[in-house]
Amino acid sequence: MTFQSISIFRDKCLLNGKWCDSKEKMPVYNPSSQKVIAQVPSMGASETKQAIRDATQAFSTWKQTSPMHRAKLLSEWHRLILDAKSSLAYIMSVEQGKPLAEASAEIDYAASYVLWFAEEAMRVQGEVLSSANPHQRLIVTRSPVGVCAAITPWNFPAAMITRKVAPALASGCTMLVKPAQQTPLTALALGELATQAGFPAGVLQIITGEAKDIGEEMTSNPQVRKLSFTGSTKIGSLLMSQCAHDVKKISLELGGNAPFIVFNNSDVSVAVEELMKAKFRNAGQTCISPNRVYVQSGVKDAFTQSLIKAITELKLGDGLEPETTIGPLIDEAAVQKVIHHIENAKALGASVLCGGNRPLADGNWFEPTLLDNVPPNALCVVEETFGPVVPLVTFDSEQEVIHLANDTPFGLAAYLFSSDIHQVERITNEIDSGMIGINTGVISAANAPFGGVKASGLGREGAHTGIEEYLEMKYQCYGFKA
Ligand code: SIN
Repeated sequence: MTFQSISIFRDKCLLNGKWCDSKEKMPVYNPSSQKVIAQVPSMGASETKQAIRDATQAFSTWKQTSPMHRAKLLSEWHRLILDAKSSLAYIMSVEQGKPLAEASAEIDYAASYVLWFAEEAMRVQGEVLSSANPHQRLIVTRSPVGVCAAITPWNFPAAMITRKVAPALASGCTMLVKPAQQTPLTALALGELATQAGFPAGVLQIITGEAKDIGEEMTSNPQVRKLSFTGSTKIGSLLMSQCAHDVKKISLELGGNAPFIVFNNSDVSVAVEELMKAKFRNAGQTCISPNRVYVQSGVKDAFTQSLIKAITELKLGDGLEPETTIGPLIDEAAVQKVIHHIENAKALGASVLCGGNRPLADGNWFEPTLLDNVPPNALCVVEETFGPVVPLVTFDSEQEVIHLANDTPFGLAAYLFSSDIHQVERITNEIDSGMIGINTGVISAANAPFGGVKASGLGREGAHTGIEEYLEMKYQCYGFKA
């Protein structure tokens, strides 16, 4: 397969129903080869402003459509995404680096949000409230927020778009998306499929270009009523402050620092298997990836031996190679961060049990790595590494591990492995986290609420509550004569 042979491949922006180009271009790289694979338009503030005007115009008619009509178009988009799965997975693997099988699984995951919100569109209801006054009737209806904007990350180039766009369109909002600079091609192909599904011009637009210029226009333009962002806490809090002046609604899915806790009474083989899935998905470049692994002293040796075996079986390589199970990191900065975290842990007394090297002088490759005896102040424990590094920390008591797990400003995901239901209940109650995996490392699903507490964000995506983020309540109080 090549980009030229893929009918849905697009390298222009989708603006008001047209594919638009610009003189200025931005290169897109393959993280395996570091070669330029495409050029996309570098749009700025004026094109963003025009797109917001067009989204406002489109909103005036889109909000009047019936939920059934919106559900029908979303269902068609879902069908088209699944039909184009192999093309989308290829585009994603080439621009993002993840193995083809993982890219294909992400397309299924992305499509599941579209189907979920196609169905949720038809379940948006109002309420009739009881009134203390017999001459009044109190009614609550829900209406779409208005024009929405989304800024999406490179680590899940399809799912983070559908998780935001599908509930927005289902509720009657229009949406302008700025995909990550590293991975615009998956987004543009999804835009082409949305056009084929029949969404009218301006309902979904996709703009590529300078993050700062586009983001500033999205946050300062009063016609935008909601911003949804997935990315770092630093940028999320900046966007939040930019949205404050006209009090836009905002959803933020930000950084994590997930603890993975293994108790003496757990099934060690299950814990290792689930850690491998959760940690090495997308080479560790996942917000809910376990960032620090706490193992109780009684199972430490068995757990460590089994984990070394599993890690050394991983096959690092180009995402398109059939035997690859772990791809490159997204860019040089990501590799440098991993190196810095490993060097810092070693300087503080940690030992490398496997991996630890950059196998080639060039390329964004890094070996899956296991570190032991990592102290609590090491950077790889304190900060999100966002790479294929597992720091092991041994603990003795429940109280100790609860303290360690919560000793972070973040609270996105946590994982715990225990066969004692009472212990599970105790720990689950104590851990400050928006999501907890109990005896499993696979927690994401379209019908579950995804999001964090503390510096990990605001709001939830997915689940039946995900559409609420795109709706406003309108309370109506009717007075009548007896
Ligand atoms: C993320 O890393 O932000 C998303 C991961 C997921 O949805 O499972």
